[in-house]
Amino acid sequence: MHRRDFIKVMAAGSSVALLPSILSGCGETGETGLEAWNGPMPGETDIRRIVLSYAILAPNPHNKQPWIVDLTGPDSFDLYVDQSRLLPETDPPFRQVHIGQGTFLENAALAAARRGYRMDVEYFPHGMYANAQIADKPVASLTLVKDGSARVDPLFAQITKRQSNKRVYEDTPVSAAQLSELAGSINHPGLGLTNKAGKRRTLADTARRAMQIETADKARDAETIAMFRFNDEERARFRDGFGVAQSGMTGLMKFAAETFFLDRQETEADSSEFGAQAVQMTTEQANSAAAFGWITTKTNNRLDQVLTGRAYERLNLKATQLGLAMHPMSQVLQEYPDMSALQRQFLGLLGVPDGHTVQMLFRLGIADPVSHSARRGLSDIMRD
Ligand SMILES: Cc1cc2nc3c(=O)[nH]c(=O)nc-3n(C[C@H](O)[C@H](O)[C@H](O)COP(=O)(O)O)c2cc1C
Repeated sequence: MHRRDFIKVMAAGSSVALLPSILSGCGETGETGLEAWNGPMPGETDIRRIVLSYAILAPNPHNKQPWIVDLTGPDSFDLYVDQSRLLPETDPPFRQVHIGQGTFLENAALAAARRGYRMDVEYFPHGMYANAQIADKPVASLTLVKDGSARVDPLFAQITKRQSNKRVYEDTPVSAAQLSELAGSINHPGLGLTNKAGKRRTLADTARRAMQIETADKARDAETIAMFRFNDEERARFRDGFGVAQSGMTGLMKFAAETFFLDRQETEADSSEFGAQAVQMTTEQANSAAAFGWITTKTNNRLDQVLTGRAYERLNLKATQLGLAMHPMSQVLQEYPDMSALQRQFLGLLGVPDGHTVQMLFRLGIADPVSHSARRGLSDIMRD
């Protein structure tokens, strides 16, 4: 199989349709870097560590896991952005990194409530910093307070099942009733959802064009390739990033792809094929969306971004509960100059008022689950 044919298989997201069944779904080797999905260590009694074990399972850009935690007391901790884990090429104002702080906090709050604690949050206790800047100031100070009235949110049970599912989705609609259940899971004024065919087509085309723009720049490609895990050995070593498994590839197919078609050195030397494959995959993924959603904010400060993350995580968990697959498609939202013309068209298409910001764009649909992405250990996010 030539590399170009291989991407068609990857884009299909499932080996089942394209390969004899003997090649699909078998041969998965033991996985490391995925232990975090089992939840807290058995016998763990420290409420902060229990809560943090769930927080690190949150979605975050490129699976960078840009979190630093400072344990400030027996029931409290501060959360900081890990400034060594940014994505300056694709996220120049570090907006998405801050959304990834909110997703983390939402999981933490759900886990605290499950154990009978309320999580009191003080956002930016030492002051909020501007976009394009990250001060060494906490994003939030958290205090866990034993509270008999803490309500267990059913979304907690979805934390270890949730994922960003990058498969091509099935040709099955998402109903208006499902969309309204999703909308009911958050308290955020800026949620938009559509399952209308015309709008889906235009949004899918926008996603394709945005990926074309994104991959036209070598530095942006390099940033993404650096987080792409070319095989299980890389995943186990780095315990971050993402790979073909998150697009649904398993078993011998995954083995063959990683052994014969994916090569870090070659891809780093010439990223043009990687870019072409990314566009092809995005096209297939976006065309298969049964619905799209987006979250808009009136202003765009650090708190808006963190609160967007909290809302996004609730939507992702609710989608999981409803049996819906979900996947962010962020390229058109990104703030580097080459994207601004397409971004303006996109904002017009959604009827977003002047000055408002679309913080998240994602697709929804029906698909088999994929393999979880890796996570580092709790000790990796603790401030020394
Ligand atoms: C702010 C934000 C932006 C994201 N943008 C994209 C994106 O453009 N494309 C994509 O495939 N995944 C995107 N993701 C999903 C991440 O890649 C995913 O959360 C991460 O790899 C961890 O995997 P998981 O969500 O399955 O645990 C985004 C996630 C967040 C929080």
